[in-house]
Amino acid sequence: MRYSTRLVGSLFAFAFSASSAVFAGGVTVDVANGEQIYNNGKEATGVPACSGCHMPDGMGSDDLGTPRLAGQIFQFIVKQLEDYATDKREDTVMFIMNANAKGLTSQERLDVAAYISEWQHDRETVDASVSNLATLKANGVEVGETYLGKAIVNHGIAEKSVAACRSCHDYNGRGVEPMFPMIGQQKYTYLVAQMKQWRDGVRTNDPQAAMRNVAKNMSDEDIHNVAAYLSTKEASPYSMGNSRLPPRHVPYH
Ligand code: HEC
Ligand code: HEC
Repeated sequence: MRYSTRLVGSLFAFAFSASSAVFAGGVTVDVANGEQIYNNGKEATGVPACSGCHMPDGMGSDDLGTPRLAGQIFQFIVKQLEDYATDKREDTVMFIMNANAKGLTSQERLDVAAYISEWQHDRETVDASVSNLATLKANGVEVGETYLGKAIVNHGIAEKSVAACRSCHDYNGRGVEPMFPMIGQQKYTYLVAQMKQWRDGVRTNDPQAAMRNVAKNMSDEDIHNVAAYLSTKEASPYSMGNSRLPPRHVPYH
């Protein structure tokens, strides 16, 4: 499947007017090529299959510490791959994403991003693969309290100047195009790792230091609480937390 140049071109013009140099002109993506890269990698440059770490269903893995990519916002994925390719973001978990992104051309990064973002799983698939907090706890991982995390997502922590996650990431962290990623039903381990990276200034690719400012006054406990809620929160009958568009596959709204 191919998007028309005009459609994606205007999407980028809208979304990325600030970096039009990168996306100037028409942008065409080849989703089938993206699928091929996701499942097989790129041998010529030694890029392993994405599915090996991000899982065949793109839902990520708490055991490996990899993020869910399925259904993530297209422009956000493109930005992350560009940031890895230019070392604005460093993978300090497996030390592999920088090489992976550099091993793909910018066109291939667009293709694989399009494939990943199009992945709209049904609710059963998502529910079956969200982080299992009980298992994590049994394995010795520190897990927070979802009800405390819910308060942070919706109201922030006033006395520590922590902004409500919802104010940027929207309801239950479902994300807002083009720049606020979906963080609802993201993997627990990954959420905790990223919050600590922002807090400790290890990850610095957030525009206007938005996330570093949010995380800087958060304790480990606050981070565990917010991650416990976001990773597992129940899908709402009104708006799927994991879906950035009005859900096509939910029979009620
Ligand atoms: C060997 C394991 C491994 C492979 C293979 C791999 N990744 Fe990753 N990926 C990771 C890890 C670990 C992270 C988190 C790194 C960090 O903390 O910055 C990550 C992060 C990402 C992110 C950032 C997501 C976000 O929410 O910010 C994207 C996008 C991504 N990978 C895409 C890909 C693509 C596309 C491929 C295939 C070309 C791929 N990955 C192959 C391990 C892998
Ligand atoms: C002022 C706006 C703002 C607020 C408030 C905010 N965020 Fe973010 N967040 C962002 C932006 C922008 C990014 C994307 C940064 C980038 O481009 O890498 C982001 C990225 C993230 C990521 C990385 C996602 C990924 O897949 O790599 C996590 C995790 C996150 N935010 C969690 C939170 C949590 C938890 C809260 C509430 C405690 C929160 N954010 C509040 C703006 C915000």
